[in-house]
Amino acid sequence: MGIKQFIGYALVVFASLVVSAQGSDFAFYKLSLIWPTSACYPLSNCKTPLPTFFTIHGLWPTFANDTAVPAYGPNNRCNANPVGPDAAVARLTPIQDRLNQRWPNLRAGVENSVFWRHEWQNHGICSDYPQDPLSYFNDTLNLATSTKFDPFKALGVQPSNTPYLLNTLLQNVYKNVGAYPQISCSQRSGGALYLKEIRFCLTRTKKTPPSVVQSCPTRVAGGCKDPLTNNVHFPPAS
Ligand SMILES: *[C@@H]1O[C@H](CO)[C@@H](O)[C@H](O)[C@H]1NC(C)=O
Ligand SMILES: *[C@@H]1O[C@H](CO)[C@@H](O)[C@H](O)[C@H]1NC(C)=O
Repeated sequence: MGIKQFIGYALVVFASLVVSAQGSDFAFYKLSLIWPTSACYPLSNCKTPLPTFFTIHGLWPTFANDTAVPAYGPNNRCNANPVGPDAAVARLTPIQDRLNQRWPNLRAGVENSVFWRHEWQNHGICSDYPQDPLSYFNDTLNLATSTKFDPFKALGVQPSNTPYLLNTLLQNVYKNVGAYPQISCSQRSGGALYLKEIRFCLTRTKKTPPSVVQSCPTRVAGGCKDPLTNNVHFPPAS
């Protein structure tokens, strides 16, 4: 090859090394779902009425060591030439109604699309869908509304004013879904723990959408630490 071709070739090889070094080698996705009644505290932070179902937080490419693939904003380098955040949101019109319902920004005074933009910019661009935000969001909607990942079914309990032992919830999910989830808790003054998010882990395969459930490497997050002693509030929607 001539020198120009060689330089072109070297650049391509170099670029692909950079790309793989920066995140395309993730191992699984985390499907993260929010319990609004726990997450919205104080309630005045949020748009009301709160949804009475789990809303979507996101679908996060995650390394085997359970760290999220780092994105670098609009200049991210985990995938070559992803669709930018503004263009990504603009493509979501065909599924906007479902997104508004299932993937709302709970925070008062902030548009839902601000949340979608953030999720694309921080996670979607590093996924297996860098050129296809519509499928990334639509597949996430489909996963989050599937019976398989219905958090009420998975947890095997209904919201209650009496807290649950965290281990009971984790074991229930293992029994009902076939894999351990990650449960993320918030902590209120006085130390009370609240089930804020449940996250299902899905193995990355060659095909999208991801469909193979696996246990999450870390079963607890946020304020929750010890499944055998932590009592966790899962309060009824008010
Ligand atoms: C987790 O794995 C990624 C990819 O292999 C690596 O870049 C990162 O430094 C690791 N983080 C920790 C905390 O081990
Ligand atoms: C979203 O997914 C659903 C269910 O698979 C499908 O019927 C629909 O056509 C998809 N919508 C778009 C815009 O891709």
